[in-house]
Amino acid sequence: MPPLATALITPARRVSGRLRVPGDKSIAHRYALLAALAEGRSTVTGFAPGADCRSTLACLRGLGVEVVEGPAGTVTFLGRGSGQLRSPVSSLNAGNSGTTMRLLAGVLAGHPFSSTLVGDASLSSRPMRRVIAPLERMGARIDAKDGRPPLTIHGARLRGAAHRPETPSAQVKSAVLLAGLHAEGTTSVAEPAATRDHTERALTAFGGQVGVDGLTVSVTGGQRLHGCTLSVPGDFSSAAFWLVAAAALPGSRIVVEDVGLNPTRTALLDVLRRFGARVQAEITTTEAGEPRGIVSLEGDRMGTLEIAPEEVPGLIDELPAIAALAAHGGQVTVRGAGELRVKESDRIATLVGGFRSLGIDADEREDGFIVRGAPTAAARPAGGTADARGDHRMAMAFAIAALAADGPSLIDGADVVGISYPGFFEALDRLVAPLDGLGAP
Ligand code: S3P
Repeated sequence: MPPLATALITPARRVSGRLRVPGDKSIAHRYALLAALAEGRSTVTGFAPGADCRSTLACLRGLGVEVVEGPAGTVTFLGRGSGQLRSPVSSLNAGNSGTTMRLLAGVLAGHPFSSTLVGDASLSSRPMRRVIAPLERMGARIDAKDGRPPLTIHGARLRGAAHRPETPSAQVKSAVLLAGLHAEGTTSVAEPAATRDHTERALTAFGGQVGVDGLTVSVTGGQRLHGCTLSVPGDFSSAAFWLVAAAALPGSRIVVEDVGLNPTRTALLDVLRRFGARVQAEITTTEAGEPRGIVSLEGDRMGTLEIAPEEVPGLIDELPAIAALAAHGGQVTVRGAGELRVKESDRIATLVGGFRSLGIDADEREDGFIVRGAPTAAARPAGGTADARGDHRMAMAFAIAALAADGPSLIDGADVVGISYPGFFEALDRLVAPLDGLGAP
């Protein structure tokens, strides 16, 4: 394996500029999977360029779907129709992508063949019982290693069922709904709290019928989906790192264009307002049910933030960025976020360990963390070397946190940002004004 890249981060005075971020990872996975199950051709523009969505494309090719990647993020799919994927000749590799593995497990549960889903070391340690149990209740059989990948899915004729997951999870909800498309009768998921609803919106765009009643979502099996033309908005979870950097550094102004503004994803905007930032978000268009538009943010003052357990599902991918906010001053306490321990890394341990290596005061809780920023500008953290531990959002959180340091810092394994945000460090170079006396003249 080639050595992992190390990124050098120099302290920042402020960040400023306008930018677009790469296509939304969650939405791109769903468009690809539904395009594969639809009849006819689908064209998706702005497809997410990161490694995770490429894993989904590679798996779909292994299932006999014709996928053509054109220039500038355009991907065309020749759909096979619901239940018509082909039995793969070898195992399907989901790489680092939990969304690929869990959503595809739902799709494959309703196909009349056996297939094996494998992943990298991180994905191989992540819990899969949350999808295995509901899919087995519907009639599939799934072999796993102590509830973890590889998963061998023995597809079957599925029966619709009513599920009540204990933990809010868009991946579990989506896996069950995708299986439900292949099941007899109606399949429903009653969530304990709202999670991102891209699957529901995408199903409608492909001509499917979805029932939504409060926190219960349902689909009926046997429906036909139709190929269509779609465009993926910028990924709000990637934009989050710039919004946080601007909120943390007074005098900053960031404008993010053409970013997804689905309300199940944008809870961070209110958190940043609570923190004292001036935030404006304007929806300019809605495509395939997904609102998108422009967000601008001006940094102001440091505050103290408490993130309550009920806020966590709407902020799950933004919590690393929120932690980086406190590295610049103020204090952030997060509770009820035990799910962070089973993401691409144990994000509570990785975050606190990495912050401490950068000289930032941070403590672990079983279900969260506390980060205490420097009380005055004169007491900036020393900086140091933090290890991303193979986790893209950790690498980006460390980079934003390290902007608060007194001297240069290194992020080991920084090239993992390519999972969701190729070009992150190039954007950082462009947007950051170094602290006086440091960096470029
Ligand atoms: C995702 C759902 C979330 C999120 C992940 C992407 C999705 O995971 O953390 O990055 O695309 O459905 P959970 O559903 O496990 O909370």
